[in-house]
Amino acid sequence: MILGGDGYLGWTLGLAMASRTGRRVVLVDNLIKRCWEKEAGAKVLVPLRSPANRIAEYRRIFGKQNLSFEKVELLDPDAVERVVARYRPAVIINAAQQPSAPFSMSSARNAAATFSNNTIGHLNVLWAIGRLSKSTTYIKLGSAGCYMGTDTDYIPLSKKDFTFEDRGLQYKVLQGFLPMQATDFYHQSKILDLLIDDLCSNMWALKVVTVQQATIFGATIPENHSEERCGLASRFNYDAVFGTVFNRFVCQMVIGHPLTVYGDGSQRTGLISLADTVDSFLDLSELKVESGEHTVLHNYTHRLSIGEIAEKLAAIDPTARIDHLTNPRREPSGKLEPQVEVHEAIQARHADKEARLQTDMATMLEFTRRYKDNIDASIILPKVSWSPGSAEMPAPVSSSPEASPVTASYALHQAH
Ligand SMILES: NC(=O)c1ccc[n+]([C@@H]2O[C@H](COP(=O)([O-])OP(=O)(O)OC[C@H]3O[C@@H](n4cnc5c(N)ncnc54)[C@H](O)[C@@H]3O)[C@@H](O)[C@H]2O)c1
Repeated sequence: MILGGDGYLGWTLGLAMASRTGRRVVLVDNLIKRCWEKEAGAKVLVPLRSPANRIAEYRRIFGKQNLSFEKVELLDPDAVERVVARYRPAVIINAAQQPSAPFSMSSARNAAATFSNNTIGHLNVLWAIGRLSKSTTYIKLGSAGCYMGTDTDYIPLSKKDFTFEDRGLQYKVLQGFLPMQATDFYHQSKILDLLIDDLCSNMWALKVVTVQQATIFGATIPENHSEERCGLASRFNYDAVFGTVFNRFVCQMVIGHPLTVYGDGSQRTGLISLADTVDSFLDLSELKVESGEHTVLHNYTHRLSIGEIAEKLAAIDPTARIDHLTNPRREPSGKLEPQVEVHEAIQARHADKEARLQTDMATMLEFTRRYKDNIDASIILPKVSWSPGSAEMPAPVSSSPEASPVTASYALHQAH
């Protein structure tokens, strides 16, 4: 069962799992993201069909009947119990959350929507598993961004003993998680989620995996790349609210817009392609987890600064330009250690990763060019500020190699 089955990751994972395995896959979603996109003025690169239409297209193309859809509101505990009772899934993957930091910072209402979807929806799923289906392995999407300012990939994410010194005295914290720190409400909700996962696996002897997922890039997997399979397209957001950084840059590049780097671009992020993410989750769905065990792991392949992402893309096209905007977010910049912890469940994704990044970028550019006319440049520049009182976003601070013709004025986002 894949919660968030209408989403960027959820739909794509469901498509891969159903087409590549003999498993029966049930997608669950309440379609709220389609409303949030309208409210935030966001658009998708390839028009999204309805879940029923996508499933019919899957059945037509693959000749298989093992993919279905259930419209369920995860905030309704009875509805969650009904769907879990009906299928008693071997595995539940929860990708049904509000996934955007800017959305969570855009208004009090959206901060609350983020907390309720990401915490209460998750809690309802854990209750349903605890009451009805304890043999289910529950795989929950976390975020690598919960460790802002820490060299996360260098330090194991599972519980460890920590020692520290304060005013000359040594202290020991036994079996604690690496301290987490958010710089926005979205990531704060994900921090809370991880602690709830730990509590429930412990309290009710559940089998839980939290995947501290890195930023995803890419538009397709082999099952939905070709033009004839546009009915199976993944949700691809490229706007400033829901679009992730690599995806935004690629869209800017294909329309000849400068790539807009926030701040000096030294802030780093973990990255992994959509195709690799899907492969990792297919492997994770086979992971043996004991009752009462809570596994926490990364899912990433690359660690790059925002500036490096822009430079790698610009290196493909000599006409591409890079602009620097004043960073609307609060995020740490910095240097990360090259050593990283690679959990065995994601090791396969680290083979040949540099070569595959070049191929992935080329694939993404080729696909995005196909839908170039759908790209609306006006929704890519940031309109949400991290400080609620500010009336206007600042203009670009520098550009390279020459000034951008597009220096939009940034009115504070007033979606609601
Ligand atoms: N996309 C990334 O780069 C990225 C990176 C790190 C972590 N994640 C995490 O991965 C997960 C999936 O992200 P995504 O990019 O696919 O997001 P998405 O917005 O494309 O998909 C999320 C889906 O969940 C559904 N949903 C939300 N609240 C719901 C509710 N109460 N009941 C039922 N359905 C609900 C939405 O309708 C949407 O279809 C999220 O947990 C996100 O935090 C994503």
